Amino acid sequence: MEHYKIQLISKIDVPFLWDMLYEIRCVRCLREGKNLPSRDILNTPELAKYVQNWGRIGDKGFVAISTDNQSSIGAAWYRLFKEDDQGYGYVDSETPEIAIAILPEYRNKGLGQALMLHLLEQAKSDSYQQISLSCGLKNANALHLYQKVGFEKVEVFDISCVMKKVLI
Ligand SMILES: CC(C)(COP(=O)(O)OP(=O)(O)OC[C@H]1O[C@@H](n2cnc3c(N)ncnc32)[C@H](O)[C@@H]1OP(=O)(O)O)[C@@H](O)C(=O)NCCC(=O)NCCS
Repeated sequence: MEHYKIQLISKIDVPFLWDMLYEIRCVRCLREGKNLPSRDILNTPELAKYVQNWGRIGDKGFVAISTDNQSSIGAAWYRLFKEDDQGYGYVDSETPEIAIAILPEYRNKGLGQALMLHLLEQAKSDSYQQISLSCGLKNANALHLYQKVGFEKVEVFDISCVMKKVLI
């Protein structure tokens, strides 16, 4: 694994968050044997809500940056959603929901876990009692990572599940 540093997301990272959101959507299409979607798919409300207007109260996350070439290589972030505007991994309005993605060439090298552990520590210090996410049931490495850091399935649908980790 090349060298990297992890730092808090700031406004300048927002374009990279959109890139990572697109990665998340592409992985789902590949798994379902579908063609890659146009980036316009990021404009759909159910996806856009994960990044749009970044900087709201409760928005927090980390970006991993290669120290070899200073480029962003992965990000993990959370944000709060509302009862009437839920994310895929919604539990309640006081439980932040995580999104995470690593650029394809940097996956399976421990970076996802490193970002996730930073995020969980941050959520604890932000005094959240629990944190959630949504995961495709066939997204084997993601499921493995989430279970390894303590998430449990709380709701299972056809192709995805909601997972939760208690932080207190
Ligand atoms: C999911 C994702 C964020 C994980 O990040 P990562 O850097 O690849 O994760 P890590 O390397 O820290 O951990 C991956 C783990 O999965 C394991 N793994 C890899 N392939 C696996 C498989 N087919 N089945 C089970 N476990 C697998 C790895 O061995 C590793 O576990 P270990 O540390 O116990 O050895 C990354 O793969 C990614 O960006 N995927 C595309 C976007 C995405 O799916 N995001 C999540 C949406 S729910």
